[in-house]
Amino acid sequence: MPEHPVPKAGLEGVIASDTAICNVDEEKSELYYRGYSITDLARHSTFEETAFLLLEGKLPSAKELKEFHKTLSAARQLPAEVEEVLRWLPPATDPMDALKVAVGVLEATSREADSNSFADNRKKAIRLISRMPVIIAAQYHISRQKTVIKPRTDLSHAANFLYMLHGKEPDDFTSKALDTSLILYAEHELNASTFAARITASTLSDMHSAVITAIGTLKGPLHGGANEKAMEMLIEIGEPGKAEAWIQNAISRKHRIMGFGHRVYKKGDPRNPFIKKIAGKLGRRLGNTRWFEISEIVEKVIDREKGLHPNLDFYSSSAYYLLDIPISLYTPLFAAARVTGWTAHIMEQHADNRLIRPRGNYTGPKKRKYVPLKKRG
Ligand SMILES: CC(C)(COP(=O)(O)OP(=O)(O)OC[C@H]1O[C@@H](n2cnc3c(N)ncnc32)[C@H](O)[C@@H]1OP(=O)(O)O)[C@@H](O)C(=O)NCCC(=O)NCCS
Repeated sequence: MPEHPVPKAGLEGVIASDTAICNVDEEKSELYYRGYSITDLARHSTFEETAFLLLEGKLPSAKELKEFHKTLSAARQLPAEVEEVLRWLPPATDPMDALKVAVGVLEATSREADSNSFADNRKKAIRLISRMPVIIAAQYHISRQKTVIKPRTDLSHAANFLYMLHGKEPDDFTSKALDTSLILYAEHELNASTFAARITASTLSDMHSAVITAIGTLKGPLHGGANEKAMEMLIEIGEPGKAEAWIQNAISRKHRIMGFGHRVYKKGDPRNPFIKKIAGKLGRRLGNTRWFEISEIVEKVIDREKGLHPNLDFYSSSAYYLLDIPISLYTPLFAAARVTGWTAHIMEQHADNRLIRPRGNYTGPKKRKYVPLKKRG
């Protein structure tokens, strides 16, 4: 076998693909979607505008945005088969597993299931972005034997999700808080789930299959699952006065603190200031600053003891808690935002494809003599 350079564990620092979708500047702790800074997008854009940007490569005109919103909201109605299959799942099904199943049903009911053409992939991407929040809310109610709240077409993507979950229209501040969080979660270069989606797409498999791969990859606590674990930790800590001792104890036991650290950003996550501000504002607005106070102490102690910074998942967790989103839906909601980036990457992969098939650095035993079963003793 020829000599190959062996990358660091976890493919750290490896450039695995060209991409024109997202750029991470780890030195400056900056993040760009299609050349636009996350700072500008988080401050001035909406999720719909950002989704258009990621899929189309440019910001929409007012007319294009109106049209895009219309297409996106018109696609909210789920095929009847999806709801039916969700009703067959055991009530305790993990919502991420339910999402994988439902996306599989979307493929089975899609007229363009077999096509990887740009035009058909674009249709599928819009339907996936539109429907994943609808699936999440529907499965939540079905698993509790409650009535499913049908989506509305007159609401924004974020407002419609909160409406489907709570049965009442959110105020502007609340829906903007979720909208900004969806912008921050929408895309992040070759993170594990996006890379997994690109690998599946590189076999010329279809978009839905690649998205199912990505959902499974996002589920893990080292990736998207961290936002749920972070909230569970804050609840376990319980009050600001207990935070320092709790974290010291966890560090001394070598526990990983969920929502902290990042493979790429070692100086801080550029998305953190935005979600932190939202979490703080939500707390003050609702007269419940407990989670924010605990979070700030946790952040201070982990920085002091380990030099680690919060990633997007940390303050997202208490922001979602204050938005009255059930904890089991935090990672599915991350998926519902990231499907925008996944589908953009799948289209990019299909447009200029070569099978992704790396090599393994073999560390097992040298060639061994085969002993027939009867003689093995
Ligand atoms: C995201 C993550 C996997 C990236 O880590 P990485 O670059 O691969 O770094 P490693 O896992 O190799 O860890 C390097 C060191 O930092 C420590 N470390 C990293 N993140 C840590 C965390 N959240 N809590 C405690 N220690 C952490 C590791 O224990 C390790 O210490 P050691 O060298 O003494 O063993 C890691 O920071 C982590 O597990 N974070 C928690 C999960 C999370 O929030 N995931 C969402 C990511 S956006």
